[in-house]
Amino acid sequence: MLSTSSLNDIGYNGLTEHTEGLSADSYFDPRNYERELLRIWYRNWIYVGRSSDVESSRAFSTFEIGDQKILLLRDDAGVLQGFHNTCRHRGAALCREPQGQLKSGAIVCPYHAWTYNLQGKLLRTSSKRHAAGFDVEDYPLYKISVTEWKGFIFVALTEEPPPFEKIFDLPINRLDAWPLKDLAVGHVLLKTIKCNWKIFWENYNECLHCPGVHTQLSQLVPIYGRGLLEERDDPNWTAHTTEDDPKFKGGLRSGAATWSLNGKVTGARFPDLSDQDQKAGHIYMTGLPSIFIVGHVDYVRVVRLRPLGPEQTELRVEYLFSPETLADARFDLRNVVDFTNLVMTEDAQICELNQQGLHAAPHLRGVVMPEEYVLRQFHEWIKAELTRV
Ligand code: FES
Ligand SMILES: [Fe+2]
Repeated sequence: MLSTSSLNDIGYNGLTEHTEGLSADSYFDPRNYERELLRIWYRNWIYVGRSSDVESSRAFSTFEIGDQKILLLRDDAGVLQGFHNTCRHRGAALCREPQGQLKSGAIVCPYHAWTYNLQGKLLRTSSKRHAAGFDVEDYPLYKISVTEWKGFIFVALTEEPPPFEKIFDLPINRLDAWPLKDLAVGHVLLKTIKCNWKIFWENYNECLHCPGVHTQLSQLVPIYGRGLLEERDDPNWTAHTTEDDPKFKGGLRSGAATWSLNGKVTGARFPDLSDQDQKAGHIYMTGLPSIFIVGHVDYVRVVRLRPLGPEQTELRVEYLFSPETLADARFDLRNVVDFTNLVMTEDAQICELNQQGLHAAPHLRGVVMPEEYVLRQFHEWIKAELTRV
């Protein structure tokens, strides 16, 4: 039996000390939910959608995070602008549809016709005269922070969001070999899960559940079948360093190239991937709290998470392919989508089951087991965000 310090010495990933989870009520208490909206969801970069959703000038889209409604639009110079979807007169929502095209080069409030330019400046009101002291310059739309990265739109409901690159767990250039900006959405899965948003992230961050919950995935990724995410999650990993078996090393089963029903690619492989990335079969990049991106050799899976209530979360999975693949008559979307939707559905169901048990009066908190070391990092991130000034 290895001691705790020698486990650390050999590069073992797992936890070597006993750790408790977050309090059970933090997964259902409405006051805690409000606090997380304010301190986490309204202060960090949140993934909203693809740049192609608002591609042409004067195209707009609306989105909600918690009870905050936002409006995104492409101005005539091609710059993406972001505002609270709220008129400065008496607060009416400006655009009602989820997506659309402005009829003119101005935003006109549907209530009393205050009119703003595409940068949010108030151009005119509908009043016959303005009272002394009123100046249109004082009433621009409320701006939010917006950034576009490789075809993904992120917003932050604060003027001073954290540096964008910092939201990811990997270096921002880690997926540069994938042509993310040029990919098109080939399929979308939208699901509402009856669980707190943190339950989904916890489930995503461990594979102890994989052997029992994901039978097919555990065959495709043999190390998952051992309840582990990667090689060094095994306290005994050094005993297998000379073996090439994916059961110990990670990666896909022999003969498989991607996450699909038959393990085969469904379109052309992305041309610039390294041998190592091809062998791995999946590279995960996570941007807390709202997105993870998985680069496969022939497609990219993007998962967007959005809290809808203390015990309700929206899951949106976007499948991105190269336009050539989508145009290929031999392209079999179901080979990809049926497999991954199965995995996501299994996760959604087990997350709901997790949520259902949390209300038990004696259950004050759970226990974080050694293989769940990423959960501990997640919990520390949550605590730090909730106390950040
Ligand atoms: S609320 Fe918009 S013009 Fe009155
Ligand atoms: Fe899972």
